Amino acid sequence: MGVLSGKKGLIFGALDERSIAWHVAKRCQEEGAQLVLTNTSQAIQLGSIGSLAATHQLPLIACDATNLEDLKTLLLQAQEILGGKIDFILHAVAQSMNLRRHKNYEDANYTYFQQTIDISALSLHKLLHTAMETDAIAEGGSVVALSYIACERFVQGYNDIADAKALLESIARQMGAIYGQKKHVRVNIVSPSAIPTKAITWDEMERYYHYTDSLSPLGNADADDCAGTCVALFSDLMQRVTMQTIYCDGGFSRTILTPPFMNDYRKI
Ligand SMILES: NC(=O)c1ccc[n+]([C@@H]2O[C@H](COP(=O)([O-])OP(=O)(O)OC[C@H]3O[C@@H](n4cnc5c(N)ncnc54)[C@H](O)[C@@H]3O)[C@@H](O)[C@H]2O)c1
Repeated sequence: MGVLSGKKGLIFGALDERSIAWHVAKRCQEEGAQLVLTNTSQAIQLGSIGSLAATHQLPLIACDATNLEDLKTLLLQAQEILGGKIDFILHAVAQSMNLRRHKNYEDANYTYFQQTIDISALSLHKLLHTAMETDAIAEGGSVVALSYIACERFVQGYNDIADAKALLESIARQMGAIYGQKKHVRVNIVSPSAIPTKAITWDEMERYYHYTDSLSPLGNADADDCAGTCVALFSDLMQRVTMQTIYCDGGFSRTILTPPFMNDYRKI
């Protein structure tokens, strides 16, 4: 018996084995949940999620999280497969063409910028709006979206995703208040350490991991640590926790100086 035994979950954003969402899916399965995975049809064609889902006998439904019709169909199909309303949802969706095409923040392509906001932030609003409209989430359900501290403090290179994450966190608070009052559905954000995945690559990434690790009293969190935090939030152990940003970052977000960081600094 795991902490998610008997629960039905929908996981957005697993692309390959490195994806945070894939780690969350595996952990949810271990904790006894029944799952449906979803990603864009393009990601299903290009990524390894199709074969991973097949190996682990997980249903996989194509959906563009920015498309309201797709979301409606997904929520209906997921409930059919799961045999009832959805207890928890992971939103692990982000993309920036400005970042991918190495555009500096100050020289952003505005069409890409709008896509970044739509994919990485508004998609959470659209998902929760559609879930409310179709009453897809069970009473007391739990929704978690993933953010990063670059929406609160400047991180060189994080580009327009920083702005999208600020909006994402605001949407989580607003929809958390509304959905909480309607159906006791919780909406929280998990803000992990930087983790090497396809979405997150920019120049000097290795140095950045080293820097955040040396400034984190518990060291950088990895995708499994992040998955554990998501599972806790999906479980009934966190029934009165909503509208929060939970940092799974080894203490990085609350630290200014550590001895390992000072040692590194002395060597420069
Ligand atoms: N990796 C990190 O360091 C880190 C840190 C903090 C937060 N996050 C967040 O975690 C989440 C997952 O990212 P990841 O690092 O695992 O990378 P990832 O590339 O594995 O996941 C991003 C996912 O978003 C999906 N996606 C893109 N456009 C979509 C759309 N229109 N509809 C549906 N899905 C779409 C992609 O197909 C992909 O599966 C993202 O929100 C990311 O910003 C990542």
